Amino acid sequence: MPVINRIADFAAEMAEWRQDFHRHPELGFEERRTSDVVAAKLAEWGIEVHRGLATTGLVGVLRNGGSGRSIGLRADMDCLAMQEQSGVPHASTIPGRMHACGHDGHTATLLGAARYLAETRNFDGTVHFIFQPAEEGGGGGRVMVEEGLFERFPCDSVYGIHNAPDLPLGECSAVAGPIMAASDGIAITVRGVGGHAAKPHIAIDPVMVGAHILVALQAVVARRIDPLKSAVLSVTQFHAGSAGNVIPDTAELRGTVRTLLPEVRDQMERLIAQVAENTAAAHEAVAEVTYTRRYPPTVNHAAETDRAAEAAGRVLGGAKVHRDLPPVMGGEDFSFMLLKRPGAFLFMGQKGTDRGGVPVHHPHYDFNDDLLPIGASYFATLVEQELRRG
Ligand code: NI
Repeated sequence: MPVINRIADFAAEMAEWRQDFHRHPELGFEERRTSDVVAAKLAEWGIEVHRGLATTGLVGVLRNGGSGRSIGLRADMDCLAMQEQSGVPHASTIPGRMHACGHDGHTATLLGAARYLAETRNFDGTVHFIFQPAEEGGGGGRVMVEEGLFERFPCDSVYGIHNAPDLPLGECSAVAGPIMAASDGIAITVRGVGGHAAKPHIAIDPVMVGAHILVALQAVVARRIDPLKSAVLSVTQFHAGSAGNVIPDTAELRGTVRTLLPEVRDQMERLIAQVAENTAAAHEAVAEVTYTRRYPPTVNHAAETDRAAEAAGRVLGGAKVHRDLPPVMGGEDFSFMLLKRPGAFLFMGQKGTDRGGVPVHHPHYDFNDDLLPIGASYFATLVEQELRRG
């Protein structure tokens, strides 16, 4: 595959950067070391560095020529709070912290593109290299947008990538429209009346009511949502009680809701409250429902997805760029950037013959370093295509 030659030349160095990040994973908004390393490299290559966005986020600015055109390229930097079991030589040195989603690889990929573009400057306009903290639940992308990312660093369009262990190395997915789900939280407090477990008739048992709510909620997706419009409701926690012979006062249920379309998201929020409150009422208990909107769906813009697919096709060959793969129900806070600027988020395959196939968020996961020069070549090609000279 035609990885850019100059990028192939320093691919081994990119792997060293990536493995260094992997050894030193940092949680969201704590990526101080990572941010320092990124800032030092960008500065070394003559790229203007702006730090302190969303605490540990930073933006590199590279200008060339006189055109007013601009593009944003984004990578995420944070790790997950989990124990690595991969056994690789560059495994995490920090207990309970692991780059299990490949953000170490995304950061090294964008650094590789930055280095190449700073050396070659075969474009006319401004490139903004956006390194964001806290993708894994902290909403670092949202915080950067709220802190004025696109006002301070105007971008005509913005692009990001995620590695995909289920796609072969050398293939990618560039699909317009909703590609990842809205990721929301629900918390339900069931208030009953506690008492002696042998006298349930003078208590109102929140454990039994919570169980009814849990089962009733399963009917929301199954019976009320259009089967061609995706939704997931998973109740993942159910806490109540402290003794075998005491009916508690309250029970707590928590879970997650995933949807691809705004109208389905609205419908889920309304129906979950309705079912929980009325099921509780049927038993003379009260359910207090909190629905927390976390990440919106990630929706790729059609024209920019075509542009991204064209650039990816130049690197991988057009036949390796899939345009019709189904969306996934995971969440992604690049969604907040796509609400403000047109752009596209691509999945880049990393499954090789002997590595790269372990799913993300798994204790044996590792980013495949063979993807680094491919991803960097894609970003660089996209810049040279969108900010074409002359
Ligand atoms: Ni991720």
